[in-house]
Amino acid sequence: MCGIVGILGKNEVAPQLVEALRRLEYRGYDSAGIATVNGSALDRRRATGKLVNLSDLLVHEPLAGKAGIGHTRWATHGAATVANAHPHRAGGVAVVHNGIIENFRELREELEAAGVVFESQTDTETVAHLTARHLASGMTPKDAAFATVDRLEGAFALAFLFEHEPDLMIAARKGSPLAIGHGDGEMFIGSDAIALAPMTDRITYLEEGDRAVVTRAGAEIHDAAGRRANRAMTQIQIDATRIEKSGYRHFMAKEIAEQPAVLADALAHYVRDGKLHLPDVDFTGVDRLTLVACGTAHYACHVAKYWFEQIARLPVDIDIASEFRYRDPVLSKDSWALFVSQSGETADTLAALRHAQDQVARVVAVVNVTTSSIARESDLALPILAGVEVGVASTKAFSCQLLVLYLLALKAAQDRGIDVSAQIADLGMLPGLMNQALGMGKAIAKVAEELAEAQDILFLGRGAMFPMALEGALKLKEISYIHAEAYASGELKHGPIALIDAHVPVIVFAPHDALFDKTISNMQEVMARHGKVLLISDSEGVAEAGQGCWKTLTLPTIAPQLAPILYAIPAQLLAYHTAVAKGTDVDQPRNLAKSVTVE
Ligand code: AGP
Repeated sequence: MCGIVGILGKNEVAPQLVEALRRLEYRGYDSAGIATVNGSALDRRRATGKLVNLSDLLVHEPLAGKAGIGHTRWATHGAATVANAHPHRAGGVAVVHNGIIENFRELREELEAAGVVFESQTDTETVAHLTARHLASGMTPKDAAFATVDRLEGAFALAFLFEHEPDLMIAARKGSPLAIGHGDGEMFIGSDAIALAPMTDRITYLEEGDRAVVTRAGAEIHDAAGRRANRAMTQIQIDATRIEKSGYRHFMAKEIAEQPAVLADALAHYVRDGKLHLPDVDFTGVDRLTLVACGTAHYACHVAKYWFEQIARLPVDIDIASEFRYRDPVLSKDSWALFVSQSGETADTLAALRHAQDQVARVVAVVNVTTSSIARESDLALPILAGVEVGVASTKAFSCQLLVLYLLALKAAQDRGIDVSAQIADLGMLPGLMNQALGMGKAIAKVAEELAEAQDILFLGRGAMFPMALEGALKLKEISYIHAEAYASGELKHGPIALIDAHVPVIVFAPHDALFDKTISNMQEVMARHGKVLLISDSEGVAEAGQGCWKTLTLPTIAPQLAPILYAIPAQLLAYHTAVAKGTDVDQPRNLAKSVTVE
């Protein structure tokens, strides 16, 4: 939920720290700060709000030094104020932290009882004070940091910087990701490889419980038991240009537009010569699936439930990750558990994976970041190949998640003796139809100008279009801040129809499929109460039921089972253009972060 970075450099590090933080802003942007050691002096600069505020501050109050740490924050404990901004400092040590220290209150009480006066409400400040007290007792910086980490419970990725130590950083990882970057006479620490990409592509990922003593000569890694550990150094292929907007107004617009291409890449990876290419996947003997994820990824799982059950006749349970382990689910050794996550670092999903690990036959991850914790802790990680997704609102990752889940449903059917050759043949049309759907942008932008005036918006859908309605509502609310809800269209009459009046736009996802007539009946119940209906269908559906609607959007006709992937486009474009019309921050909406690495 926060981003941390550390540099032991050859040159002044402040500009590099800020650039690395810019690449980490997707993890949170409530405040930012850096600290450096210049000669022997330790100093810091912090600012609330976006990173640009810190940059401005550094223009007026520059910070010298060739060693430094930095942080961009998504507030957990304490409001977004300068006092709560990282780095936190006590005596001769500064600390940046991603995660939650669950026993911080007990530690804070202990420190206050010893006379420590806190300046912030954060859990992280206890880490700084504990380390300062260890230093004051005569410990070396390494021992002081290690002794502090021994006291911490919860999830943390930490970087320590010390006064009088211009060639030392200590890093520690438990529950939150942390990477070490290797330079030539320089060393780096970062929450992920993207932050370090401009400086190095040689990355070592710390493992659960690891600590590292970092100097410009390299990193000395110790495992959770305190033993020296060797961790592999990998060469990361990060196409740095894909971190840029490449001429689009927002990353979200670029990533929506990239969908036909990245879906084509994913298809080329998983379908070869007209056959499914999932060599490590065999559903033989699997009698049940559990699909677990958060947010948009959960809605992808919800759609996939229809596919696995309708195409492969394989029973599926779906769970929101933050609920999964607390309901103590009944799992079996003949079942698989699939965890879907764009970032692969979502704490709720990672915790759910760890809960299921010993109770199912196989744990499979469907992820975008293949070096992530969820990917590395699963038995099999299937990449969705969406490329780097920067916009906080997930778009191309969602459609790629849907595609990979659909392919898995086809494979499950195949392994259960069901012929899916027709469904495989249909896949080739998907990128082209997605591209056609992108042509609706102008029409949707016009509708969005009116949608932006609404206080409440409802989304309706039946069957696999119900989770698409859920996703459409989430997309809209998370970037336009308009209250939006979704219902199975048959459910509206059981209460929510009371919300309908002439001021409430109701967006109906209804391809002309087996459920079309039922959905249209529900839509007409809305129109009978003066609801403003926006019907999203295909040409046949719009011709049959578009009469009397406030607005209609016509999508290309597509094989019914593939419709959810195609209908993601209007859901995303409606949210995007409504947010643009409202003037909200499309790529970094308020209160959000791209990767929620705290529970
Ligand atoms: C997506 O638009 C949302 N910002 C959010 O719900 C996201 O899908 C969720 O946090 C899960 O993230 P993950 O896919 O990285 O696990």
